Amino acid sequence: MTPRSHVSIVPIASAHADGFHACLDAVAREKRYLAQLQAPPIETVRGFVRDSVAADAAQFVALDGVQVVGWADVFAAWPEATAHCGTLGMGVLAGYRRRGIGRRLLEACLAKAGTKGLTRVELHVRADNDAAVALYLALGFEHEAILPRAMRFDGVYHDALQMRRLHPAISA
Ligand SMILES: CC(C)(COP(=O)(O)OP(=O)(O)OC[C@H]1O[C@@H](n2cnc3c(N)ncnc32)[C@H](O)[C@@H]1OP(=O)(O)O)[C@@H](O)C(=O)NCCC(=O)NCCS
Repeated sequence: MTPRSHVSIVPIASAHADGFHACLDAVAREKRYLAQLQAPPIETVRGFVRDSVAADAAQFVALDGVQVVGWADVFAAWPEATAHCGTLGMGVLAGYRRRGIGRRLLEACLAKAGTKGLTRVELHVRADNDAAVALYLALGFEHEAILPRAMRFDGVYHDALQMRRLHPAISA
């Protein structure tokens, strides 16, 4: 593992698709943070990344050399009246956490989402995911709702929080 300063945050490119798939899969298989318990099939992820690159979407990866060690993305809703709303997803490989990578990924992603007119970014997070909630609060997200039993892992229900960040430049 290289020092923190050597992990770079870059917009996702097609060349990162397989690494992104592996990273997403590893975090999903922890079975406590993401709604999905494994990554979608590799072909699906490659297509997804292709679309993301073509759309110049707000999707970033953290690279240690050529290894993808984290990602963050904000994807816009498609119906016209909600097209200013984006949904956030992110994760960092377990061995790379608490090194500032999540914060850097999220800052890059929010900045890009802002330039794309996404003035409301929302997310659902498991209520006991203290690390993610602390990061979101630090970057301007606010609690919006508790979603009782919104997630279930191995038959055990967990509440989720709905959080949102309104673009600071928009006051109403
Ligand atoms: C949430 C996550 C992305 C944070 O990434 P990270 O690289 O570890 O975060 P950073 O090192 O950039 O920390 C940024 C801030 O987040 C908060 N934070 C991160 N980890 C924390 C922890 N274990 N406990 C409390 N706060 C934590 C702190 O406020 C921290 O700022 P500080 O270091 O100045 O105290 C990472 O823990 C992760 O991938 N978790 C599993 C996947 C996940 O939960 N995804 C989100 C689903 S909604």
